[in-house]
Amino acid sequence: MPLNRIRMSLIFLILTPLLAISFRCSGKPGNENSSKATVMLGASVGPPYLDEQEYSDTLKKYFRILVPENHMKWEFTEPAEGGFDFTGSDKIVSFAQLNSKAVRGHVLLWHMQLPAWVKSKTYSELEAVLQNHINTVVGHFRGKISAWDVANEVITSQEGDDGSGMPGLRHRGKAPENADYSVWAEDSTDDSLIIKAFEFAHAADPDAKLFINDNNAYDGSEIVYAGWNKKQSDILYDHVKKWKDAGVPVHGIGMQLHLDEEFPPDYTMIENDIIRYGALGLEVHFTEIDVRIKEPVTEEKLQNQAVIYGKLAELAGKHSHIVTAFVTWGVSDKYSWIPLFFTSYDSGLLFDKNYNAKPAYIRISEILGL
Ligand code: XIL
Repeated sequence: MPLNRIRMSLIFLILTPLLAISFRCSGKPGNENSSKATVMLGASVGPPYLDEQEYSDTLKKYFRILVPENHMKWEFTEPAEGGFDFTGSDKIVSFAQLNSKAVRGHVLLWHMQLPAWVKSKTYSELEAVLQNHINTVVGHFRGKISAWDVANEVITSQEGDDGSGMPGLRHRGKAPENADYSVWAEDSTDDSLIIKAFEFAHAADPDAKLFINDNNAYDGSEIVYAGWNKKQSDILYDHVKKWKDAGVPVHGIGMQLHLDEEFPPDYTMIENDIIRYGALGLEVHFTEIDVRIKEPVTEEKLQNQAVIYGKLAELAGKHSHIVTAFVTWGVSDKYSWIPLFFTSYDSGLLFDKNYNAKPAYIRISEILGL
């Protein structure tokens, strides 16, 4: 090859990645499906809503990851022992495939939304039950789910602590009505079934990235509990580090981020967590973001909400080699768990009840180049 052809090829080789990088950073806000952002925007979804034109149009236009909000939980996928039902979850996954969206699976080991038959099992019976469930569910969707929330909310909650000692893992020793009761551990240090859940999921779909999802991964959402939450986030970190060191197939941390407009989270704490999990070689997904507003919803509160969303987007953008997903817990305020679970709160999402982009969406789209 003549010398200047070689030189031209070299210049091309050097420039191409640089051009690609600058492209990625220059996405225009609100650009329909042409996002060059590295952090992917996602939303939790419900199967019946997919039939609503405005809902599915909004999903298609703005979101790149879908998460079944409920329909991959045990009460839907295995309502009776060995009787699997994928009606709702198949609908979501088909929609995602048709529209080239990624899917996060949610969830394989959680203490809630479990059918009664699971709760009636003895501890020693549960390993086989868990293995069959994960084999079947993860196997059913093999190759179609990019990331699974394998374990969810396994760390004790401040609210539910019954004073019986330090927080640890939710477990069977608590009273069943206690928020910290879980069938999946014998005591606050027993992580054996959690580890098994990761191993079963990895065996069933070796290409899926496996996450532990938690509301205490950082935490600042309930500011009055900040001291405890710090401790809880350390407990989670210590477990994850131990699992990683032992070769358990865990690939990422899901930070839920259910927040309140009046109480901005501790951003430094979130950032420190992103950094320390990144240093373990893990990815971080923001998995269930919403920023609830106490009624009446005012313009000022919507602006405060936009600031919180914006700060999260800045953190994701700044650490985009670690934070790869920015998922909101719902598509629009028309269908959201917030008014049902938080009395007198509403309006936590990026789109209003008429599917109009709220100040929060405008803010994050500018920051993330969506
Ligand atoms: C919630 C759903 O949004 C509700 O529709 C359902 O009734 C209860 O569960 N943390 C989680 C999610 O990991 O699965 C929860 O989703 C919200 C809190």
